[in-house]
Amino acid sequence: MRLASVLLIFSIFHIYLLLNVDSHKERECGCNYGRIWVDIVLLIDHSSNVEQTEMQSLLQSILTMFSHTSINPARNESVRIAVANFARNIVSLADLTQINSIEDLEKILLKVQRNTLISDVNTGLALNWASVVFEMSDRRPNAKNVVVLYSSAYSQGNVQDPMQSAIQLKSQGVTIITVAIKGAAWPTLSLLASPDNGFSVTGSDVNTLVLNAFCQANCFCKSGFTRLVDSSGHQYGECVAVTNNVNNWVSASVDCSSWYRGSFLASEFSSFKHSFILNLTKPLKLDSYFIGLSYNKFTSGYQWQQPNGTIIALDSTFLPWLTGYPNNMYGDCVKIIRANNPSAQNMVWMNAHCYEEVANYVCQMNTCDTNNYCATLNDYD
Ligand SMILES: *[C@@H]1O[C@H](CO)[C@@H](O)[C@H](O)[C@H]1NC(C)=O
Ligand SMILES: *[C@@H]1O[C@H](CO)[C@@H](O)[C@H](O)[C@H]1NC(C)=O
Ligand SMILES: *[C@@H]1O[C@H](CO)[C@@H](O)[C@H](O)[C@H]1NC(C)=O
Repeated sequence: MRLASVLLIFSIFHIYLLLNVDSHKERECGCNYGRIWVDIVLLIDHSSNVEQTEMQSLLQSILTMFSHTSINPARNESVRIAVANFARNIVSLADLTQINSIEDLEKILLKVQRNTLISDVNTGLALNWASVVFEMSDRRPNAKNVVVLYSSAYSQGNVQDPMQSAIQLKSQGVTIITVAIKGAAWPTLSLLASPDNGFSVTGSDVNTLVLNAFCQANCFCKSGFTRLVDSSGHQYGECVAVTNNVNNWVSASVDCSSWYRGSFLASEFSSFKHSFILNLTKPLKLDSYFIGLSYNKFTSGYQWQQPNGTIIALDSTFLPWLTGYPNNMYGDCVKIIRANNPSAQNMVWMNAHCYEEVANYVCQMNTCDTNNYCATLNDYD
């Protein structure tokens, strides 16, 4: 009786576990506004096209937005902000070192004066100023640069086309966010922006869009790694690198973590990731490579390596095993091999001996982002 009920409870629990297998997802970029660490140049159109009420609500809105971030030079995970007004000319209000608190930002924004006499909007000049600010200020090499251009027009009056300035900034890795002060300016102004970063104050919740764009700018891979991206262009919070080295699985795993702290043998929770990694290995024409999957004798299950030596169990959604596998008679570790199949895409999982067999391997690490501060971009520690 007693045994029966224990067994019953056990089976119910087991079914519960089976039904609740939560398939693991590829990691998204961290986005914690209070820990954004980008350098930002705010360019604010103060030409006569911007009405007094529009200017007031814009300045209030900018202040509210930055109240969600940290402005504190004593912290690494902190934004730095430079501010300028522009119409036909540029009026510098603060470089990247002068605003050291939200109160400082408020004081600077209170200095913004509409230029009621000038209707020219020289966005090209404004973008060039941003470029100089990034060059002049002592750059934080691990901080990405972002321009936020608040403007009533793409450009207006007898001024230069700003497109060249925008292209040059973006080619230097600067993210450009445009915010149209007039709804009608949105389509053209967005042409200057980085992809998906053209917004309008007349749209809903522009501050959230801009803060999220800061998070995206603040999400990147260390040098030598490639950002995971799916076919729709969505970028994940993961970085992958294929090594030229050949090692056994255990040494490969150690090599990943010594190459970059926090790096580990790559996981493949989904077919798109499997295909992404395969694409990365193609130039090296590899016939086999190790991934971070291995058999754990104590749990009698397969598990994925994760950052810092943590692990997660293999879930049952994506399992491209070679026919007849898994079979840990052939080893407790897992490699990817080309199946005996005409389709070159057909790379499958197969058991391998952890110490005796050698192969190339794929390392993975989290992006540097607001949940994962990186003091440097290319260190080996
Ligand atoms: C891999 O490359 C193929 C061919 O270029 C492409 O169609 C596919 O989308 C790529 N897969 C991923 C996940 O990037
Ligand atoms: C991994 O280790 C690093 C360095 O010790 C630490 O900063 C980070 O928070 C750890 N990550 C996790 C997920 O525990
Ligand atoms: C900021 O980063 C530097 C360089 O990595 C480090 O030495 C310092 O301790 C960090 N400061 C704080 C307050 O975390």
